[in-house]
Amino acid sequence: MNNFVFYGPTKYVFGKDKESMTGELTRWMGATNVLLVYGGGSAVRSGLLDRVKKSLDAAGVGYMEHGGVQPNPTDDKVYEGIAICRDNRLDGLVAVGGGSAIDTAKAIAAGTVYGGDFWDFYAGRSVVEDALPVGVVLTIPAAGSEGSGNSVITRIDGLHKISLRTESALRPRFAVMNPELTFTLPPFQTACGIADMMAHIMERYFTNTQEVEITDRVSEGVLKAIIAEAPVVMSEPDNYDARANIMWSGTLAHNGVCGTGRQEDWVSHFMEHEISAVYNVAHGAGLAVVFPAWMTFMSQHHPEKVAQYARRVFDVAEADDTKAAVEAVKRLKAFFAGIGLPVTFGQLGIANPDIPLLVKKLHENKGDVIGSYYRLTAADTEEIYRLAL
Ligand code: NZQ
Ligand code: ZN
Repeated sequence: MNNFVFYGPTKYVFGKDKESMTGELTRWMGATNVLLVYGGGSAVRSGLLDRVKKSLDAAGVGYMEHGGVQPNPTDDKVYEGIAICRDNRLDGLVAVGGGSAIDTAKAIAAGTVYGGDFWDFYAGRSVVEDALPVGVVLTIPAAGSEGSGNSVITRIDGLHKISLRTESALRPRFAVMNPELTFTLPPFQTACGIADMMAHIMERYFTNTQEVEITDRVSEGVLKAIIAEAPVVMSEPDNYDARANIMWSGTLAHNGVCGTGRQEDWVSHFMEHEISAVYNVAHGAGLAVVFPAWMTFMSQHHPEKVAQYARRVFDVAEADDTKAAVEAVKRLKAFFAGIGLPVTFGQLGIANPDIPLLVKKLHENKGDVIGSYYRLTAADTEEIYRLAL
């Protein structure tokens, strides 16, 4: 096991009606006048936004609104938000929604107190040292941004979708997690969230670091719980306990616990980010297409850890590593298809993907050779994209 630092300072407040605590939690994180960041309208329609505002009012916290953040959020909403925060001297942010609203809030939080262009952080030209505090009211278990230090924003100019990673600067101070808020999710969004949280665990699981039995077992346990609960939330969207189990899985998948002491991979995410940047598909759906293709490639080139995953997560009884890995791909695809997810580009609605463009952008953004479980050149990533056709 490798040395590591794990610092996860987010206060998770989990359970029914907990959004009524948003005001006092905002005060607790030291903010008195916040930017309320939300998406395209689901939080307005459900009445959640009104309940959050009521809670802020009751705690004497002032707020301004910044709604209309779209999935695969773009830099324009970040620049607008920074201007509002600066002009009105706001001292914190509360995001109501999923990864898109939260990541936009994080980018605004860092950009507001920075002298330069916030994109410097995403382009790797500057490091986030300070940010306004961010709190979250989570409405979709998926991206795990409620517990991560990351923020993923797409720069409209050139369609560069970049993941900014920070150790702690951008971790939310609090995350309100009420599973009932997820009852209104469309089935497709529920399924996309499930694929995304599984991918977050698998990106950490497929590693060459040895003697990581504890994180392997934690990862396998969370994956097995997700696989067991997924059909329940799909068929009974109002099942509180199943929704609660999926919601907490989404956080454990991405708050860092599953990655401690090991090298992580993340190539499937990098490859997916190019797809959702260019074709604006749901991130989780893109992962359901790319990850099995990456695993298929690995079954030929480096099957060992995929074989362990096959045996421990999908109970595959196969002694040969390559055959076990191939079987894992089959079972994972069947699982994704069973909850209504696409597993090919065609099913994702992209009949003729521009693979040379995806490969070019991928290696421009991430380097000539990418990945740690297996080092991939442009010829390799092209092959993986083709395996997803
Ligand atoms: O915009 P609204 O109207 O709110 O609708 C949203 C949106 O259409 C809807 N929704 C959310 N909660 C709902 C609901 N509809 C009904 N009832 C509810 N309770 O769901 C749609 C998707 O929302 P979004 O926030 O985009 O989903 P998600 O949480 O999957 O976030 C995706 C973004 O996060 C990034 C992805 O790349 C993508 O841009 N990621 C962020 C990460 C991070 N910060 O750590 C890590 C991930 O790997 C990921 O890359
Ligand atoms: Zn993801």
